[in-house]
Amino acid sequence: MRIFSGIQPTGRKHLGNFIGAIVQYVAGQEQEGESIYCVVDLHATTVAYEPGVLRERLYDTTAILIAAGLDPERSILFRQSDVREHSELAWLLSSVTSWGDLNRMHQFKDKAGAQRDLVSAGLFTYPVLMAADVLAYRATTVPVGDDQRQHIELMRDIAARFNARYGDVLVVPEGVYPEVGARIMDLQEPTRKMSTTGGTEEGTVYVLDEPKAIEKKFKRAVTDSGSEIRAGADKPGVTNLLEILAAARGTSVADAETSMAGARGYGDLKGATAEAVVELLTPVRERYEALRADEGELERILGRGAEKASAITADVLTDVRAVMGVGCPPAARR
Ligand code: TYM
Repeated sequence: MRIFSGIQPTGRKHLGNFIGAIVQYVAGQEQEGESIYCVVDLHATTVAYEPGVLRERLYDTTAILIAAGLDPERSILFRQSDVREHSELAWLLSSVTSWGDLNRMHQFKDKAGAQRDLVSAGLFTYPVLMAADVLAYRATTVPVGDDQRQHIELMRDIAARFNARYGDVLVVPEGVYPEVGARIMDLQEPTRKMSTTGGTEEGTVYVLDEPKAIEKKFKRAVTDSGSEIRAGADKPGVTNLLEILAAARGTSVADAETSMAGARGYGDLKGATAEAVVELLTPVRERYEALRADEGELERILGRGAEKASAITADVLTDVRAVMGVGCPPAARR
């Protein structure tokens, strides 16, 4: 098994990123094989952004990942733009990517609608770069949250079309989604996913929030009519709280429901969920400060990660160039 996943260095990382993805990254280190995690700064340039802020967020995200338990000795942790093969492979794969498929991507439509000045071609081809990220490593397994499903399906189609045209050079990867917490919803608008771009400030719990802020956000969480604490399509607010409670405790939603059997109402559910989330995030916040303060060390970690990553992608790209008939033929190389 070779695990690969990516995370954008944009905004502040929230509970959705943490439960949907970061917890899985850390667990992936226990699997046999390699785990490779990438902070995708090139993807972050596809919407309006400030170059200086991007660098800050890159360090923030890297420090959060390490604080959460990602061990750069056991995993490969690196910055996307440091490994040039990602960009090259994205171009090469664009020739086996259907324009119509790209045009059907929900995330493109959502993000394009939110742009004020420019809807960039980069935003449109974003999923091709994402496919290149994974396929450049012949990764087998891609842990992500539910919102990435469509991108993962497209990545699989791209790999399959490449192999059908040029021979079996790439691995068709599988997406893996957490059983609990694959789609954490906004606490104020529980029918929308928690997100730094599309969500509400009050309904978004950040990984680095202080316990008091976390408690306040849960206390004000929007719930549903009735008073029964159970998950169901008619109860989006309560279901979201139960999902968060279960994910934070590492149990099933059914267990979370059972644990609330003696509760007096939604207030108890909010309190229990806030407590579990504070317990989950406090050690991360505490470790974060020291890690974030040492940018030199973060650069050293990312640099070592990029070296290890490049050793893998160089081989894959040699094969891809050869079968596509681009560049110097392998036999002519001395
Ligand atoms: P990004 O940076 O938006 O999010 C990082 C991860 O967090 C997950 N996530 C959520 N999970 C549950 N509930 C939520 N509300 C929630 N919000 C976000 C995302 O599913 C993701 O796993 N395109 C990717 C980054 C990427 C990538 C890759 C991922 C680039 N290349 C290659 C995998 C493989 C993205 O924007 O994630």
